Amino acid sequence: MDHSKLILKPGLEGIPVTQSSICDIDGKKGKLLYRGYEIGELAQKSSFLETAFLLIWGELPSSSELRDFEAEVQMHRRLSFRVRDMMKCFPESGHPMDALQSSAASLGLFYSRRAIDDPKYVYNAVIRLIAKIPTMIAAFQLIRKGHDPIQPRDDLTYSANFLYMLTEKEQDPLAAKVFDKCLILHAEHSLNASTFSARVTASTLTDPYAVVASAVGTLAGPLHGGANEDVIAMLESINKPENVSSFIENSLRDKRKIMGFGHREYRVKDPRAIILQQLAEELFDRFGKDEMYDVAKRLEKEAIPKLGAKGIYPNVDFYSGLVYRKLGIPRDLFTPIFAISRVAGWLAHWREQLGANRIFRPSQIYTGSEPRKWTPLEQR
Ligand code: SDX
Repeated sequence: MDHSKLILKPGLEGIPVTQSSICDIDGKKGKLLYRGYEIGELAQKSSFLETAFLLIWGELPSSSELRDFEAEVQMHRRLSFRVRDMMKCFPESGHPMDALQSSAASLGLFYSRRAIDDPKYVYNAVIRLIAKIPTMIAAFQLIRKGHDPIQPRDDLTYSANFLYMLTEKEQDPLAAKVFDKCLILHAEHSLNASTFSARVTASTLTDPYAVVASAVGTLAGPLHGGANEDVIAMLESINKPENVSSFIENSLRDKRKIMGFGHREYRVKDPRAIILQQLAEELFDRFGKDEMYDVAKRLEKEAIPKLGAKGIYPNVDFYSGLVYRKLGIPRDLFTPIFAISRVAGWLAHWREQLGANRIFRPSQIYTGSEPRKWTPLEQR
């Protein structure tokens, strides 16, 4: 290959590396569509499991397809005692994303047949990952508190059951409804870093558990899924609305990024942030306000005149943490919750990659040494 003609594109910005029919984003207009359906309409009218079905198989399920899908997911929520016992060996101080990545990868030990050309194997893998990831996260939360994990409850919906397993008590129906909408909002977002990771891993024809474990590890980073945790830490460090101006000034002076702001695709406020802000207000109306919300609103108001011209606006992570906080979810579980949802998108891309696979192997521009000889130790 004639390297002199290669043009370097750090972060592959703007470079299409695949064709996909799963998700479309209009960054200028702030539009997000899953298989052609607007995110706002899905958040309002759909459920997470229905949206997951749509993303993975391309069409909204019929009522019998949805009933079967929900029943299969419900049937597979439980974890093998071996996975639970393995999690009991994890240090309590470990980050839940590391616990999730280890546990998700361990499923490959139980379902090792890499029959990815068998539709039944693919279907079962989709069911198991969607069903078991919430149980893994709830299990680690109880284990690190010194409690035994509790079994899923088959009489509860997907989101209500997760909140029950996490908190050991049945939550208000509004909490489950809002949580389910959060899962819809985070389910898919075209070729973000963790989904790209999933596609690269999928392109080697490894098993879906390794694909999801790759993606979980990628999502954990603070520039990606980890930002939702950092937004709350940032708001708490600002503490009061009157401190916002100096915070912005110092951040811009020190070239520190304002967490929850900016996006590679969006040049306006992330449509998901708009809906998450509405969900936060719905929870505040019912369960009481979070004083960090005034800090967040002031930060948005004062940062936009300084960053908006560069197309930097609130992204999905800016308000999501305030929703989860009001639901009583510990901060270091915000990103694992992102993974509960995004596994639907990762699995959709896994299937799509398998449908027209070519292993990812990009090029590079070499900037290292010219060929040289090895020198003996005494001559160095
Ligand atoms: C997610 O890709 C996806 O779809 C991801 C996601 C999904 O659903 O999967 O939407 C989820 O990851 C949302 C993003 C969460 N991350 C954060 O909130 C962290 C803070 N944001 C930034 O790190 C940044 O905005 C990124 C990583 C989100 C986007 O980075 P880019 O597109 O690579 O932009 P960049 O870092 O090259 O910045 C371009 C300019 C720079 O200024 P200059 O050097 O040109 O003067 O914009 C500035 C940056 O300093 N900038 C910011 C900023 N983000 C970018 N300045 C202040 N605060 C910020 N948040």
